[in-house]
Amino acid sequence: MRVFVTGGAGFIGSHTLVQLLRTNADIMVFDNYSNSSPEALKRVKRLAQSDFSIVEGDMCDPRALASAMQGFKPDAVIHFAGLKAVGESAEKPLDYYRTNIGGSITLLDAMDKVGCKRIVFSSSATVYDPNKPFPFTEDTALCAASTYGRTKQFIEEIIRDWSAATPGSSAAILRYFNPVGAHASGDIGEDPVGIPNNLLPYISRVAHGSLQELQVFGNEYATADGTGARDYIHVEDLASAHIAALEHITSMTGCDTFNIGTGTATTVLEMLRAFEKVTGKPIPYRIVGARAGDVSTTVANVSKAERVLGWKAKYDIDAMCRSIWNWQTRNPRGYEPRG
Ligand code: UFG
Repeated sequence: MRVFVTGGAGFIGSHTLVQLLRTNADIMVFDNYSNSSPEALKRVKRLAQSDFSIVEGDMCDPRALASAMQGFKPDAVIHFAGLKAVGESAEKPLDYYRTNIGGSITLLDAMDKVGCKRIVFSSSATVYDPNKPFPFTEDTALCAASTYGRTKQFIEEIIRDWSAATPGSSAAILRYFNPVGAHASGDIGEDPVGIPNNLLPYISRVAHGSLQELQVFGNEYATADGTGARDYIHVEDLASAHIAALEHITSMTGCDTFNIGTGTATTVLEMLRAFEKVTGKPIPYRIVGARAGDVSTTVANVSKAERVLGWKAKYDIDAMCRSIWNWQTRNPRGYEPRG
């Protein structure tokens, strides 16, 4: 199968490529490296001992996208590319709407032009109304609380409308919960630019000594120990969910949505203890006030993915922490020097 992968150099994209290459797919990656490094793709090729084409280009450039697709003639698209920082999305809403929504429309247009009718889209658990009871099923009401989340919610609707209007099309929307972890080799992993916003990259830098202490955002939530609880999913499990989704859309028409998580919630302090166990080091932390916009708990009901895709997460919290620590110690500066 010929698969066009937008944002393939990113955290989830790069891990998915390694597994996709094992299926003997013919791949073209389209990425502008706005929040990623070409080094990740070099390492993917080395790891998989396999080659694929790369086009450096911007999702919002209809000509670049159309010409890449016309040359490649994909059977399916996996659409990872997009801006993803919740805080930044409040400061630069138009950048987020232009890149995420505009880019997705440009992509669907380019797919139409080459007759490509299959897409797997990276959505997020953040589309759910956080006030609804958890675990969230795919039918839980949507009401994203951030601009970033709204871009994902709107793109989902656009893909549903496109699919309804395109005979023979098939789409899988994957709602990721909290992706963490790294490839078992330690060669590829999450490499946020600057000070990380997310828990695991932050903890791993504290453990490594490049950041002083973790600030735990709030300890008065209605959870086991009062700290926020999330459904963390190993990026290798997330990658295999894409392979399963790709298989699924080759055998159906229409648009289907899936939660991709483990169904288990872990608190901030439980995660910190798990990381301490893996590293054998105490990780300094301080409880501070709750972070604006945070919710107590998000956790997925994953039965639909299990039933329809035949997919289930395999890795536990310890495996997630071990893989992150392996990546962190082997690559203390991530992919730097970038390029
Ligand atoms: N946390 C801390 N200290 C930190 C960072 C995080 O205590 O320095 C806590 C948060 O308060 C939360 C938990 O760790 O309780 C997880 O926070 P993350 O920032 O790692 O993840 P979020 O659940 O806030 O957000 C993530 C992605 C979003 C996505 C969302 C979907 O970052 O892009 O999951 O649910 F939209």
